Amino acid sequence: MADTVTLTFTAFAPGKGALVVYCDESLKFGTSVMKALAPAGDLVARAAKAERFTGKSGSSLELIVPAGLGVTRLIVIGVGKTSALTEKDFLKLGGIAMGKLPITAAEAAIFAELPGASVKPDRAAELMLGAKLRSYAFNRYKTKRKDGEDRAAHRKIAVAVADVAAAKKAFAAREAIAQGVLIARDLVNEPANILYPEEFARRTLALKKQGVAVEVLDVKAMTKLGMGALLGVGQGSARDSRLVVMRWNGGKKNDAPVAFLGKGVCFDTGGISIKPASGMEDMKGDMAGAACVVGLMHALAGRKARVNAVGVIGLVENMPDGNAQRPGDIVTSMSGQTIEIINTDAEGRLVLADVLWYAAKRFKPKFMVDLATLTGAIIVALGHEHAGLFANDDKLADRLTKSGLDTGELVWRMPLTPEYDKMIDSKFADVKNSGSGRWAGAITAAQFLLRFVADKTPWAHLDIAGAGFDSRQTDINKSWGSGWGVRLLDRLVADHYEN
Ligand code: BES
Ligand code: MN
Ligand code: ZN
Repeated sequence: MADTVTLTFTAFAPGKGALVVYCDESLKFGTSVMKALAPAGDLVARAAKAERFTGKSGSSLELIVPAGLGVTRLIVIGVGKTSALTEKDFLKLGGIAMGKLPITAAEAAIFAELPGASVKPDRAAELMLGAKLRSYAFNRYKTKRKDGEDRAAHRKIAVAVADVAAAKKAFAAREAIAQGVLIARDLVNEPANILYPEEFARRTLALKKQGVAVEVLDVKAMTKLGMGALLGVGQGSARDSRLVVMRWNGGKKNDAPVAFLGKGVCFDTGGISIKPASGMEDMKGDMAGAACVVGLMHALAGRKARVNAVGVIGLVENMPDGNAQRPGDIVTSMSGQTIEIINTDAEGRLVLADVLWYAAKRFKPKFMVDLATLTGAIIVALGHEHAGLFANDDKLADRLTKSGLDTGELVWRMPLTPEYDKMIDSKFADVKNSGSGRWAGAITAAQFLLRFVADKTPWAHLDIAGAGFDSRQTDINKSWGSGWGVRLLDRLVADHYEN
């Protein structure tokens, strides 16, 4: 259903719909909130007492049609100690507020106010970002409402702030980031019958409107480049493979770009080494890495980031078929290295082998970061709390770790050593695409990628199998496709690579 949510900044006015306000741990409110609640007398204090609500962080109190107020519902959200709040907390507070609003409320106001000092524009903007990310729902394919469900088709939500102009200004860049995240989520949520490589590539063309140069390479072009690893994965599919190169030049003319690469397996059946049926539908999300790169390019271009950035994504579908590649096959990658296919389900690394080589050779980037829903093993190791981080460069790894802490998109560094590398030596070719046992599966996958990093380019690999979809539900994300990584990498660029 095409339900819409509009979020705008306004001055403090409670409106006639739902009202969300914040209080600290001693039930104190900001001045505009006090003014808005004054007509209700001691109603809120009495309700709080009856509910034993004290304003602890994470707690809330709800009053339906509170007497004296013109609103349909009052929601009070506790923030705990206000002096301890960081920018990241405001993101969360926006998400929580959005989550507390009933889907029936066509109109609502969220007062971005706390007792004490006024909420700075950056923090109000962060709150807005949280609300916006939380408000996302993928319901493109729902043609009916649930029985008895009376959701508002259009929801108008106002975030009330002290200085509307300043908040809008602070939100401008975040608006682009929000768009990037939502675009990534949409791509991940789309089913594979709709979003196959060619269609995925077509959707990246929207970036042109933002000033991003987009090139789409077809099978013929990739064959010419010698991308035998990527093409081998796609050869069993009725859908042709694609490679998309996106370039945003917001930096100095001759400044080397930063590069972001994504695994875009539009559907992963496992190929001839076919996966079990249970849960296989999730493999429509095996392009979450590529989706993140596209979302990130939208974010960077949308906020006119002062950086030269390239995005490269390898788009394929991994299917079993008469023409599919077999275990035992040997393919030649663009790097010239030959690869023995042990397991056709270890396909993501094959796609990335050619993408990595191509990106390093063509663009000579300052660094490259790839994102891939690469291994189930990384979920065994880290669950859904952290994405796996592998890197050949400590500075890049440390920066990514820090950006993770700042954005809440957490990464945890894993090892790369020659001992793990040995595990992918092949009897017949230069390298094989899977280790012999299942031990250290996420690490051997990363070691494989490292063999295709040309010219010692600083490189980091993010294994997002646990983060890209069906991940941890948070206050700012209730979507299956999470859009994970857009905020992390945008922050990495903003903090270290803009001039
Ligand atoms: N796309 C999968 C990894 C995956 C699993 C992502 C679960 C998200 C959730 C990947 O292509 C794969 O199949 N990896 C294999 C590698 C193995 C065959 C060496 C795996 O993890 O089992
Ligand atoms: Mn696979
Ligand atoms: Zn896969």
